[in-house]
Amino acid sequence: MERSEFMTLPTPGARRAAPGTTVPFTPSAPLTSSPHATGAVAFPDGFLWGTATAAFQIEGASTEGGREDSVWDAFCRIPGAVVNGDDGSVADDHYHRYREDVALMKRLNLDAYRFSTSWARVVPDGKTVNQEGLDFYSRLVDELLAADVLPWLTLYHWDLPQALEELGGWPNRDTAARFVDYAVTMHEALGDRVKVWTTLNEPWCSAFLGYTAGAHAPGRKSPEDGLAAAHHLMLAHGDAVRALRERDPEAVLGLTLNFTVSDPVDPTDPADVDVARRDDGMFNRFFLDPILRGAYPQDLLDDVAHLGFADVVREGDLDVISTPIDVLGVNYYNGGAVSARPQGAAGETPAGTADPGGERVDAAVWETRSPNPVPDGIYHHSRGLPLTDMGWEVQPEGLTRLLTRLQRDYTGPRGTSMYVTENGAAYPDVVQADGSVDDPERLAFVDVHLRAVRDAIDAGADVRGYFAWSLLDNFEWALGYSKRFGLVHVDYGTQERTVKSSGRWYAEVVRTGVVPARDGADAE
Ligand code: FCB
Repeated sequence: MERSEFMTLPTPGARRAAPGTTVPFTPSAPLTSSPHATGAVAFPDGFLWGTATAAFQIEGASTEGGREDSVWDAFCRIPGAVVNGDDGSVADDHYHRYREDVALMKRLNLDAYRFSTSWARVVPDGKTVNQEGLDFYSRLVDELLAADVLPWLTLYHWDLPQALEELGGWPNRDTAARFVDYAVTMHEALGDRVKVWTTLNEPWCSAFLGYTAGAHAPGRKSPEDGLAAAHHLMLAHGDAVRALRERDPEAVLGLTLNFTVSDPVDPTDPADVDVARRDDGMFNRFFLDPILRGAYPQDLLDDVAHLGFADVVREGDLDVISTPIDVLGVNYYNGGAVSARPQGAAGETPAGTADPGGERVDAAVWETRSPNPVPDGIYHHSRGLPLTDMGWEVQPEGLTRLLTRLQRDYTGPRGTSMYVTENGAAYPDVVQADGSVDDPERLAFVDVHLRAVRDAIDAGADVRGYFAWSLLDNFEWALGYSKRFGLVHVDYGTQERTVKSSGRWYAEVVRTGVVPARDGADAE
């Protein structure tokens, strides 16, 4: 069957409801009482199944083909910034092995592959286009199409050309204009073959881990810079959507955000409730509201007023930022329980490490601060849930709540579709004597999160696809190669790829469109 026969990508523009109209919405049930908790779960026809990666995490070849430094190449050279002194110079060597990797995707039956293009490969000095860089992505796209895998292209997954960082980086408004030039360059080269375009991956990370926490490249530690970076990233997004829409009315356009689900430890305590408001605010609403509602939330503007944010926002910016999109990409790993009080010695996360994926902030030797520009008095509590190798809670019902909330408050009213563009887990895999890799915990993680997605769909959320993070084990940013997220194991010494048991299981899910019943459960 041709992909086009069963894939139902949203029709560009067509699904945008008039402002103020809503789609039917029913609140969701938590997963424990889910009808899908254990039996076989069928997904709707046309549901899009994929895996995701990002350029810097897999490509390697960092000095080949005219590529120059991105902020991540420079960051990796800072002593202590990345665990083990790891860098992206080889990574998964995907630049040379992309054909083998597309063949792997085929073996996994994937409908779609979410990847990012490296700005530093295509416009290495920030202004001059490098044809060799474009040619690589052109070859990759051709290979995907020949394998009948839909290319789902992300223009920016955190790897700003270092040349642009030296001109001020994302806190410099001009970087947004450079991004639009780059987006148009990519579209000129690939627009005839690539139909789905994501501007940004997780601007929260680029802005607040990169410019406020100092945990990610470029490693700055300034609340003001983080806020300015966030605004300019969103401006870049909106302007790029306008430029691409004008060039190609048929393109499916959107961006991917990462989310937390902030729960007050004591929902009856106003102080905890306010801390949850602030945590949710800086993580989720700071991006959702401008992009999908055309305004920053007033409570957040009040919270950051002392940081001069008002001077960054110019007249007309919010119109640009809220340019309609077809697709919201949802990345979800976990939520968090937050309080105005420390938990006490055992479970306390110190004030300021407000990232629910706290490892990102804490693991490196390099000193970091909170990604939250106004972190004071926010304490993360452990809930005793199982943890992945990242130290992140396994909290699938949070995904159901997230998707239904997004549908009700943000995407539904705009007629925007959702795709889960990242979800997955790191576990310390062991290669068996026979060369196989058995990873039941990762399999269970994906299984339970898919069930949570199905619950959200039942509750009225327009979720049209799921991309597992990640196709391959890869460079996990400040944690280097120490964390493995792949459905496919990579031996970094030999570059040998081995499909893990989770990958074999996922291939069957993709082939059948059904999550099989859990052992011992009756089929639904
Ligand atoms: C997301 C990133 C992705 C990967 C996963 C684990 O925040 O987008 O590159 O690092 O987390």
